[in-house]
Amino acid sequence: MTSRPSVEQFLRTFHDRDPGKQSVSIREVLTPDGRTAYEAFADRVGDADRVLDLGCADGELLSVFADHGAQRLAGIDLSVNELAFARRRPELQHADLRVGRAQELPWEDESFDAVVSHMAFMLMSEPDQVAAEAARVLMPGGRFAIAVGSGGAEESAALEVFRSLALPLFRAARGQGLLPRFGDQRSRTREGLDEILGPVGFAPVTWERITIRHRSTPLAVWQDNAETFYELSVVPKDEVAELRERFLAEVEPLAVDGLVPWAMGINVAATRLVGGGA
Ligand SMILES: C[S@@+](CC[C@H](N)C(=O)[O-])C[C@H]1O[C@@H](n2cnc3c(N)ncnc32)[C@H](O)[C@@H]1O
Repeated sequence: MTSRPSVEQFLRTFHDRDPGKQSVSIREVLTPDGRTAYEAFADRVGDADRVLDLGCADGELLSVFADHGAQRLAGIDLSVNELAFARRRPELQHADLRVGRAQELPWEDESFDAVVSHMAFMLMSEPDQVAAEAARVLMPGGRFAIAVGSGGAEESAALEVFRSLALPLFRAARGQGLLPRFGDQRSRTREGLDEILGPVGFAPVTWERITIRHRSTPLAVWQDNAETFYELSVVPKDEVAELRERFLAEVEPLAVDGLVPWAMGINVAATRLVGGGA
């Protein structure tokens, strides 16, 4: 058995290999009112002027805030190559993008009106430390919004097929020590987030589910999953090829006019800094 990789080393390697890929998959699926997950999430934060994104990767969410007219944009990520991708976006040419850890933010106290983290806080180790840093760099009354995966594929037969076929492979990879432990389970629930955020001065979170839907060819659903699931990156190539064939064979009969519907849910927790905390 190999020694388990550290989560940060794993994420850095994964994101450095193929920057810009995950956001393309996420951006394709839309809410019922035609918004991307990034736009729907940014709506929950409102029109903050100074925004910091924890785990900003290729800058897709910061771009939405740039469109909203935010004056000061900042982001931090472990991956050098994701940030290089973000820096090539014209709307982010003045953004303050740093390679680093959200547990040690390189900004001064009270620098931002809003801190956001889309599908990233849930992966971070020591989330209490990240929360303390978010509280430190926020203005009193500043907003903190966190989007986490809902973990449910309840409305999507295609995703259900993917999960049922892929889970045994993911379990085996975990058993062999090929995958790190991603984040802290508390970061994925409302109660857990209150436990993390309350002691450093945040109000109890509001909690809202955003469902995003899409109709794609079975092959496109496969490709999106292949780019989104970290676990797949450690499964041996021949097993991935076999999984792909089995997935397509089971999902193609579900298609109508060549397309299958699929959906995913994200949970959005939002809060404000109300007290001094610990
Ligand atoms: C699933 S991706 C989401 C990226 C982006 N927020 C989005 O939604 O498109 C998670 C990102 O969080 C970053 N990340 C994870 N842990 C981190 C940490 N402790 N500090 C900074 N970035 C981190 C990863 O490098 C990766 O780019």
